[in-house]
Amino acid sequence: MSDIRFDGRVAIITGAGGGLGRSHALELARRGAQVLVNDLGGAVDGSGSSLSAADLVVAEITAFGGIAVANHDSVAIAEGGAAIVQAAIDAFGRVDILVNNAGILRDKAFHKMDDTMITAVIDVHLKGAFNVTGPAYRLMREQGYGRIVSTSSASGLFGNFGQANYGAAKAGLAGLTRVLALEGASHNIKVNAIAPIARTRMTEDILGEDLASKVSPETVSPVVAYLAHEECLVSGHIYSVAGGHVSRIFVAETDGVTIPGITAEKVGAKITLIGDIDPDRQKVPASLEDETTIIAKALAEIA
Ligand SMILES: NC(=O)c1ccc[n+]([C@@H]2O[C@H](COP(=O)([O-])OP(=O)(O)OC[C@H]3O[C@@H](n4cnc5c(N)ncnc54)[C@H](O)[C@@H]3O)[C@@H](O)[C@H]2O)c1
Repeated sequence: MSDIRFDGRVAIITGAGGGLGRSHALELARRGAQVLVNDLGGAVDGSGSSLSAADLVVAEITAFGGIAVANHDSVAIAEGGAAIVQAAIDAFGRVDILVNNAGILRDKAFHKMDDTMITAVIDVHLKGAFNVTGPAYRLMREQGYGRIVSTSSASGLFGNFGQANYGAAKAGLAGLTRVLALEGASHNIKVNAIAPIARTRMTEDILGEDLASKVSPETVSPVVAYLAHEECLVSGHIYSVAGGHVSRIFVAETDGVTIPGITAEKVGAKITLIGDIDPDRQKVPASLEDETTIIAKALAEIA
């Protein structure tokens, strides 16, 4: 593959004042992108704000001759999303790339999780992605070009104790990615997601030194750069990314069992076979349409 360059391309990266977002911003800017560095500058739980986080990253980029501007709006409200996209237009005249990265944590076991913890996390991760992607996607559709990379998480795709709010929001981003990939396909808009593991302030206390030392944010950003590039071949995919290890996460279904005259008892008798995840008895539907075809074929057996 030829060198990955972003000359003439404009990228918005949310939550880019630190951690993974900062690393993505530096990576894209080093490769020639004009970058809108968005960050509210709050704490890990989303409280507070400061101008300095985004401004410092912009200073780092301009120091090596890159092009970047800072933005301090919150992704969590619709007006913030619109203002972020408008700031990129005002500074650079277009938007080619959006990296939905901003995030917070409010962990608690589900039985102790209150409504503010649920709302705050869903507002930043899931509604936040909608708030910025909406205006950016419309511009991309008009110009017939766009690349969107969202940040999902193993927490939502595989499950993690104490993160019902976060996991649900991150699984929601997988759904947004799948649907938008289908809708954007005819407009040359490619939409993918990553589920990273990286040493940042968010994970400082949980990874353990051995793993933490191997998973810098800088090992995640090359995947974002590939997915954000014009020559990216994939859309609707989700990649697990950590420390230079990259794999694809996908939703598969077992061959299942067709049960004529289905009853609860018959389901019980077959539940082990229904759930058999033998790789030779799996399918990976590309869309709901695909899934409907699979079901129609299975039901043709009953007639
Ligand atoms: N670090 C990991 O191992 C890991 C794993 C899975 C997913 N993620 C996801 O990666 C993304 C980046 O996280 P990180 O680990 O770099 O943590 P981080 O706390 O360093 O970065 C998150 C950034 O988002 C910003 N932010 C928070 N709320 C915002 C808002 N409303 N508007 C704009 N900016 C806002 C924060 O100020 C912060 O700079 C998050 O979405 C996170 O959930 C991280």
